[in-house]
Amino acid sequence: MTEISDLKAGLIADIAAANTLDAVEALRVGALGKSGVVTGLLKTLGGMSPDERLAKGPPIQDLREGVAAAIAERKATLEQAALDARLASEKIDMTLPADLGPQGSVHPVSQVMDELAEIFADLGFSVATGPEIEDDWHNFTALNIPETHPARAMHDTFYFPDVNDAAQKMLLRTHTSPVQIRTMMTQEPPIRIIAPGRVYRSDSDATHTPMFHQIEGLVIDKGITLGHLKWTLETFLKAFFEREDIVLRLRPSYFPFTEPSVEVDVGYTLTNGQRVIGGDGDAKGGGWLEVLGSGMVNRKVIEACGLDPDEWQGFAFGTGVDRLAMLKYGMNDLRAFFDGDLRWLKHYGFSALDVPTLSGGVGA
Ligand code: PHE
Repeated sequence: MTEISDLKAGLIADIAAANTLDAVEALRVGALGKSGVVTGLLKTLGGMSPDERLAKGPPIQDLREGVAAAIAERKATLEQAALDARLASEKIDMTLPADLGPQGSVHPVSQVMDELAEIFADLGFSVATGPEIEDDWHNFTALNIPETHPARAMHDTFYFPDVNDAAQKMLLRTHTSPVQIRTMMTQEPPIRIIAPGRVYRSDSDATHTPMFHQIEGLVIDKGITLGHLKWTLETFLKAFFEREDIVLRLRPSYFPFTEPSVEVDVGYTLTNGQRVIGGDGDAKGGGWLEVLGSGMVNRKVIEACGLDPDEWQGFAFGTGVDRLAMLKYGMNDLRAFFDGDLRWLKHYGFSALDVPTLSGGVGA
């Protein structure tokens, strides 16, 4: 008996004296591990007669419990001390001034949207907005895209689950064109607006992200022609790319909400082996990049908004802001736009003080 209580006192003294978690662990293995002393004593119980076991069992069990408890306690104490030391060494005084200034910068998408707003403000356009959670009528039907129209499938729409009492399906807008509808229904013509914002399509690879940015333009007035559209786009693209030698190529196309519809390409040329926007795309080494969808607003769309298409005409255009940013600032992976990587932003971002102005150069 005294042997066991001596062993217990010795072990507990050793445990109390252990100063590191490793030392406590070594003691645990020596006592309670597979071939530990206490484990060895426990094993002897199996070979004892019932009477002997009745006499020796309780002190051995008491030894095991006492040693296990002492180890747990010592371990907790040492862990707490380690945590306290770490907290003390890593503490930060939130009241001290930061030794680094703010690390962010203006994202190229925000910068380009500001540039576009500045360019179009100069042409007499104001900025309009609409909801990103849109209804089926504004996103499709009013834009002459009826239920059965293949364009609905082309848009890879994110629909919300059906709600029983909702009058119509809700969705994430697939383009900024519903802002055309909302503007025509709430503003008296003449209208000159641009509508920048987020749009969503279920699509994802190096050149497509499920969320991206578009900018819409809409002009509604009397006697508006394709000539006005061409001049406006040419003026805008010259200001945006900051080059006078921008050459446009207009190709007949199809959008349900414009008639006729025109796709607009901008020419690029080879300068020192680099593709540079500007110049005649048909020149040797050059080519054309599609930058815009546009056209004369379809009579059916004007009618759907409650205006008389014999009195009011206009043009509309839409383009991807992210794509414009990539073309102007030379980025090639769209996905990096949304990673929030500070190193990328440091390289491609803009100073908050770098406000685009026409006189200072919009992309300065
Ligand atoms: N909404 C069209 C798209 O997302 C672009 C567009 C806008 C085309 C306005 C014509 C007129 O592809």
